Amino acid sequence: MARKVKKIVVGNWKMNPTTLSEAQKIISSVKRGAKNMTKTQVVICPPTVFAGKFGSFPSGQFFLGAQNVFYETLGSYTGETSAPELSEMKISHVILGHSERRKMGETDEVVNRKVKAAVTAGLSAIICVGELERDQHGDYLEFIKNQVTMAMREVNNKFLNKIIIAYEPVWLIGAKEAMSPQDVQETTLYIKKILRELYGPLGDDVRVIYGASVAPESAKDIMHGGFVDGLLVGRDSLDPKKFVEIIRVVN
Ligand code: PGA
Repeated sequence: MARKVKKIVVGNWKMNPTTLSEAQKIISSVKRGAKNMTKTQVVICPPTVFAGKFGSFPSGQFFLGAQNVFYETLGSYTGETSAPELSEMKISHVILGHSERRKMGETDEVVNRKVKAAVTAGLSAIICVGELERDQHGDYLEFIKNQVTMAMREVNNKFLNKIIIAYEPVWLIGAKEAMSPQDVQETTLYIKKILRELYGPLGDDVRVIYGASVAPESAKDIMHGGFVDGLLVGRDSLDPKKFVEIIRVVN
């Protein structure tokens, strides 16, 4: 039988805020607000340059994540950061293949190399997949399947508990409202089925979460009806009140 896994909430700060003091304020408010919500893992992904400045991490249910990593471990790669370097800074998770990075040219092959580098270094990989738009013929399902399959190519099943798939319909990122729980559920089950096809029952070890315009209000419906193991939050992760409320809902 598959392992029972903890629910997870990931906050993707993207390239915000500008100052370290603002960043520290958000972290302390979230840690204070969510300190009793111990059934849920909370992963905060600030700009990586700030990551070493937040005191002790991981602590309790709180973890630090990066928003990208390079696939080589060491060497002449100006501007890049390796998975072992992230690990050295107490970063335990990394978001990979976010649509904003794919838009800058990151391919499925590059995402796959990054996934393997991350898990080999002991990091958990939060792999973002999702269609750019929904067509009537259901071609988007094939698109998602391809993204998942490519990202997981040659990823050994011993790493499956370090993989989180974040389903993010790109057309709903930064939108007014999140996806309906029914649509989230349908796609989540589809992704879980792909993972079973790839890994058999062990595929159930991979957590599947939803992201794109998650807010406290939509979090509730999606957690009840979406069949997800957690949420990935953009904008509202920068607002401690809203983010703590989302964690409360998941918890
Ligand atoms: P959003 O961002 O919650 O602001 O839509 C989600 C994301 O880009 O991961």
